[in-house]
Amino acid sequence: MTTINVISRDGSSRAIEAEVGHSLMEAIRDNGFDELLALCGGCCSCATCHVIVDDAALSKLPPMSDDENDLLESSDHRTGNSRLSCQVPVTPELDGMTVTIAAED
Ligand code: FES
Repeated sequence: MTTINVISRDGSSRAIEAEVGHSLMEAIRDNGFDELLALCGGCCSCATCHVIVDDAALSKLPPMSDDENDLLESSDHRTGNSRLSCQVPVTPELDGMTVTIAAED
């Protein structure tokens, strides 16, 4: 298990235990954060799983695909630390990372 701190849109935060091998989206959604809609179920086609990752974790994530980059471009809330959480696998290296659920577009 990997501990991830999740910050909701209302600013509250909660640590969750994420299973290695699941996606970050699945971990967040399955821990009751309903605001992470993940409408496409992880197919990288909706951008409703947009999160902002902390600086320390950014370099530990896999490179962004062109599809993910294009989808994030459609968001008004994209930052340099934006990722689609369905495209981020949970790994032991991410233990202690903080992710913020991005504002809804
Ligand atoms: S769940 Fe749709 S792009 Fe991530």
